[in-house]
Amino acid sequence: MSEKKKRVAILTSGGDAPGMNAAIRAVVRTAINKGIEIYGVKKGYSGLLKGELFQMNGKNVSDIIQRGGTILLTARCHSMRSPEGQKRAAEICKVFQLDALIVIGGDGSFKGAKAISEYGINVIGIPGTIDLDIACTDYTIGFDTAVNTGMDAINKIRDTSSSHERCSIVEVMGRNAGYIALWCAMTGGAEEVIIPEMGEINEEAVIKQILSNREAGKTHNLVVVAEGVGGADELAKRIEAVTGIETRATILGHLQRGGSPTAVDRIHASMMGNLAIELIEQDKYNRVIAYKNGQYIDIDISEALNMEKDIDLKMYDIIKLLAI
Ligand code: F6P
Repeated sequence: MSEKKKRVAILTSGGDAPGMNAAIRAVVRTAINKGIEIYGVKKGYSGLLKGELFQMNGKNVSDIIQRGGTILLTARCHSMRSPEGQKRAAEICKVFQLDALIVIGGDGSFKGAKAISEYGINVIGIPGTIDLDIACTDYTIGFDTAVNTGMDAINKIRDTSSSHERCSIVEVMGRNAGYIALWCAMTGGAEEVIIPEMGEINEEAVIKQILSNREAGKTHNLVVVAEGVGGADELAKRIEAVTGIETRATILGHLQRGGSPTAVDRIHASMMGNLAIELIEQDKYNRVIAYKNGQYIDIDISEALNMEKDIDLKMYDIIKLLAI
C-alpha cells in the first residue's frame, strides 16, 4: 500500500519583506520534488481563520523570485493574539488535515505558530522581516534589501543636502530595533546614528558633533535616526534653531519594505525555504530556521522565542569614529 502523501501549508504573516516570494518558491518547489502536497494560505493568519487555502504547484511560483512583497498576501491578525483565535486556527489546520504549517514572518508570527503547536499542529518558522530583530538568527529575510534601499535613498539625499550645505536627518524603519539604522548609517557614511538600544537621545552630543564637523570643514551633515527613537521632524527643527544650519528631515517609511530582493535575500530565502521542507520530510517539527555563524540550522520554537537579541555596539562606535 502506498504511504499517504504529507500535506503542508505555507503562509506569510506580519509586515511583508523582500525575499518572502523567493522563500515561498523554494518551499513549494522543494515540496513538489519530495512528493509533498503544498497549500498556500492567503492573507496570513486572517486567511487561515477563514479557511482561505488553495493547492499550489510549481507554476504558481514562476516568475516571483525577483518580486518584492508576498504573492500570498499578508496581514497583522489581531484575532491570533487571543486563545480563541489560536484554537480556531488549529481547528482549521485539522479540517484541512495539515501535517505541518510553515509560517514566514517575525517574532509575533512565531508566537502565533507556537500557540497553534500547543493544540497539536506541527509548525515551522522561517524568519522574514526587514527589522533583523529575531534573537535566534543572524539573518532575517528582507534585511539586506531594506538596507540597500535605505543606503540608496541616503545617497540621493546627500546630493541635495551637499548642494544646499544643509544638515539632513533620515529616519529609517526597524520597529524597536536599530539594526537597519546602524547598517544604513555605516553604508551611507552618516556622522551620527540614533538607535533605541542606546537609550535616551543625547541631543547636545548630536549638535556638538554637527558643529565640530562644520568647524573641521564639512559643508553638510547626515544623521540617521531609527524609527524606534522617532521624532526626526522635531529633531531637525531643534538642530536648525540651535545651530542656524538649515536642516531637513526625511522619513523613509514603507518604501524600505518594497523592491526587488537583493541576491543576499534571494539566497537566504531559497536556502531557508528548502530547509523548512527538509525538516518536515524528517518529521522534525516545531522548529524555527536560523542562520547562525554561516550555517542554516533549526531551533526549538519555544527556545527561539525565549532568546534575547543583542546588538553589535562596535558598529555604533565605528560609525562615530569615522564621523570626523
Ligand atoms: O516589521 C516591519 C516593519 O516595517 C517595521 O519596521 C515597522 O515598524 C512596521 O513594520 C510597520 O508596520 P505597518 O506596515 O503595519 O505599519
